[in-house]
Amino acid sequence: MKILILNGPNLNLLGKREPEIYGNTSFEEYFRNLQFEFKNVELSYFQSNIEGELIDILQKSAKKYDGVVFNAAAYTHTSIALADIIKSIHIPVIEVHISNVFAREKFRHKSYLAPYVKGVISGFGLQSYSLAIQSFLKNQE
Ligand code: DQA
Repeated sequence: MKILILNGPNLNLLGKREPEIYGNTSFEEYFRNLQFEFKNVELSYFQSNIEGELIDILQKSAKKYDGVVFNAAAYTHTSIALADIIKSIHIPVIEVHISNVFAREKFRHKSYLAPYVKGVISGFGLQSYSLAIQSFLKNQE
């Protein structure tokens, strides 16, 4: 199984950015844990601060991966363009958030992506990514 983990804006700052919310671990460090945890899964990782780059990657992902674990970060709450591409590609996308967006500011309660994804996992820290991968594997059984 081939899974893409796609991270949106400011998630390159994980470990340094608001550690009280997002923790002290960089995503590169956590990605190594995921590779160890899921040895039978071919995991790829990409991060961009640019909406158009995320769209380009999603457009190409249907041919390359069986599923996408997507943390669109702040674009979750703003991007019709990302919602449109998720709606158009024929592979499952799971929306993840490190923090519990529903326990935070009201503007974070709205997700433009949620209607078009397979499911949303929010609030389990970095473990949100692991839970998403587990759900892809369970569905494969
Ligand atoms: C986030 C939550 C978003 O509201 C925020 O803009 C982020 C990260 C999370 O993983 O908790 O950048 O997606």
